Amino acid sequence: MPVQVQGVVARSQGAPVTLETIVVPDPGPGEARVRPLACGVCHTDLHYREGAINDDFPFLLGHEAAGIVESVGPDVTDVAPGDYVILNWRAVCGTCRACLRGRPWYCFSSHNATQKMTLLDGTELSPALGIGAFAEMTLVAAGQCTKVDPAAPPEVAGLLGCGVMAGLGAALNTGNVGRGDTVAVIGCGGVGDAAIAGARLAGARVIVAVDIDDRKLELARKFGATHVVNSRQTDAVEAIREATDGFGADVVIEAIGRPDTYEQAFFARDLAGTVVLVGVPSPDMRLDLPLIEYFGRGGALKSSWYGDCLPSRDFPMLIDLYLQDRLPLQDFVSETIGIGDVEAAFDKMHHGDVLRSVVVFDR
Ligand SMILES: NC(=O)c1ccc[n+]([C@@H]2O[C@H](COP(=O)([O-])OP(=O)(O)OC[C@H]3O[C@@H](n4cnc5c(N)ncnc54)[C@H](O)[C@@H]3O)[C@@H](O)[C@H]2O)c1
Ligand SMILES: [Zn+2]
Ligand SMILES: [Zn+2]
Repeated sequence: MPVQVQGVVARSQGAPVTLETIVVPDPGPGEARVRPLACGVCHTDLHYREGAINDDFPFLLGHEAAGIVESVGPDVTDVAPGDYVILNWRAVCGTCRACLRGRPWYCFSSHNATQKMTLLDGTELSPALGIGAFAEMTLVAAGQCTKVDPAAPPEVAGLLGCGVMAGLGAALNTGNVGRGDTVAVIGCGGVGDAAIAGARLAGARVIVAVDIDDRKLELARKFGATHVVNSRQTDAVEAIREATDGFGADVVIEAIGRPDTYEQAFFARDLAGTVVLVGVPSPDMRLDLPLIEYFGRGGALKSSWYGDCLPSRDFPMLIDLYLQDRLPLQDFVSETIGIGDVEAAFDKMHHGDVLRSVVVFDR
């Protein structure tokens, strides 16, 4: 039977989100219906509601969640009702050209549910990143459910569903940070701090955190920054060079999504260094950079979708590290809130008051 539940919907560009009754169909072939237990508020949700991702309003927001599988479609064997899962937005298809070449973390044809969730009047919803987990129930592709150890509480585990995984993976997978490397991270929100935590895990020797908010820089230290730079007061490129023996960093991670901060990243890398863009730009943004500087320095300019993660490989491993006190995922949770508080959480994010507000559902 389809169920009716409450969900957080962005109806039109820039308008505050509203709590609406949504209809969630029974899972069909290849689908699973999941009861989210917790879902973090990611900056990408705000990008959706601002119309910066696409125009497919209305959106059902929320995409950084852990929950319990409630029911599955007829042919689903990988997950079963009762499983504790993190929802992922890279449900590897196995048949696209990336998957066939053995590079499933780039999967170009990730699965989502085939059926649509709707508003009561039948209007189809676009679930954010194919998930839509600011809702008491959601419908996803079964491959979007990654089983993990239930010992990790949902408000912590769910973070791996998007921003924290994106940041960790930007350092560990895309940037391939290694022991002894120097790293700079520009923008220290949830994503940037996760990149800092990832760089520390990998054994980076210098980790420079850059932000315009001293509160964020204080937190960045906690996650492993060895140097902090307030780029309102200090030139970011100069400061990164100074912290890296005058050379620039081996890996510079941009975790905001702006041309000016990308430019800082570009000029703050060492010869043969790597820039990783994990912040999401809006479609109108442009770059104007000297091509000779790109050529002359060698190295690589990369972007990172979801930290190039492979959920089945990375989520259980990172949850293990958390449970062994080697990855402080709990420190990303600034507050837990109710499903009606998402708009207020956007405000707090906008003002830099939080790393992550996490919606927790009644159990
Ligand atoms: N690539 C991916 O797969 C992926 C996944 C999740 C999120 N993201 C993106 O990552 C970005 C960061 O997300 P978040 O949730 O951490 O956001 P956030 O708003 O919590 O963090 C942004 C940080 O950047 C800082 N900042 C803003 N302007 C700055 C400037 N000019 N110079 C230096 N610092 C500045 C802010 O003070 C804040 O600390 C967003 O663009 C989000 O959409 C990407
Ligand atoms: Zn694929
Ligand atoms: Zn996200």
